[in-house]
Amino acid sequence: PLVTSTEMFKKAYEGHYAIGAFNVNNMEIIQGIVSAAKEVQAPLILQVSAGARKYANHVYLTKLVEAAIEDSGLPICLHLDHGADFEICKSCIDGGFTSVMIDGSHHSFEDNIELTKRVVDYAHSKGVVVEGELGQLAGIEDDVNVSAENASYTQPDQVEEFVSKTGVDSLAIAIGTSHGAFKFKPGQKPQLRFDILKEVEKRLPNFPIVLHGASSVVPKYVDIINKYGGNLDNAIGIPEDMLREASKMAVCKINIDSDLRLAMTAGVREYLALHPEHFDPRQYLKPARENIKDVVKHKLVHVLGCDGKA
Ligand code: G3H
Ligand code: 13P
Ligand code: ZN
Ligand code: NA
Repeated sequence: PLVTSTEMFKKAYEGHYAIGAFNVNNMEIIQGIVSAAKEVQAPLILQVSAGARKYANHVYLTKLVEAAIEDSGLPICLHLDHGADFEICKSCIDGGFTSVMIDGSHHSFEDNIELTKRVVDYAHSKGVVVEGELGQLAGIEDDVNVSAENASYTQPDQVEEFVSKTGVDSLAIAIGTSHGAFKFKPGQKPQLRFDILKEVEKRLPNFPIVLHGASSVVPKYVDIINKYGGNLDNAIGIPEDMLREASKMAVCKINIDSDLRLAMTAGVREYLALHPEHFDPRQYLKPARENIKDVVKHKLVHVLGCDGKA
């Protein structure tokens, strides 16, 4: 069934695991993710960005997710990723989503509270849940490139006031993750601020925390892409053991997009390089979809620990 994330997060918090939130943009991506989740019986969050809605159209995505639910029988939450303003959140709430993110992280603390509360009031009146964000991720977020040095981590002393004043259902925090495939500079040792996560956890007991920018940038797929004509030098992500650690803590939702892009692109590049005479999209999209399934299954079972929890 189509569900909110409320029950998923409650069980994840208590069971010391996390739910995978995967970005979806087309049918093959949805099918790859859902067939992995079906095989290991994991609950799922499928998330749609403004860019995904622009690319595929709202109704195509919601109908594909509807099909995925019917086909899999899994509990699936349909979530708006990085809602920039009230209007896009309202449009998704009215258009069948069960969860939205209002990303007010680049506003002042006070403006973030005001905007987030406005979305929460509307969403809750329709039975939809809301994710807010405090602190800014390094990397590219909302077309603003925040460099690692200027990234502002979440300030733990703001989280109680933010949550109580807005009424959000979950909170995304910045502890050193970032969007995209280049999360750390070459030679830089990947690090996350677990001290901040621990402090947030202490101040918000039993409250679900969200990590964005949590792809591992799986080296296997980067290597295939580079081997078959791509050029992704120094692509580097979050080490899996750190995500495993975070999943055991208050983190209940882990966002993954880049790893799906890399898996899919690796599949297409490899297939086309090895079969230069082929031109039927089904031929190269099939291994691409299979790669998505493999990478998602690995995450569900070996990183997030949400297999068998559907
Ligand atoms: O947060 C970024 C997600 O990876 C979505 O990316 O806005 O290009 O669809 P997008
Ligand atoms: P990645 O770029 O690390 O996959 O992060 C995705 C994300 O945070 C979507 O909101
Ligand atoms: Zn994000
Ligand atoms: Na957890």
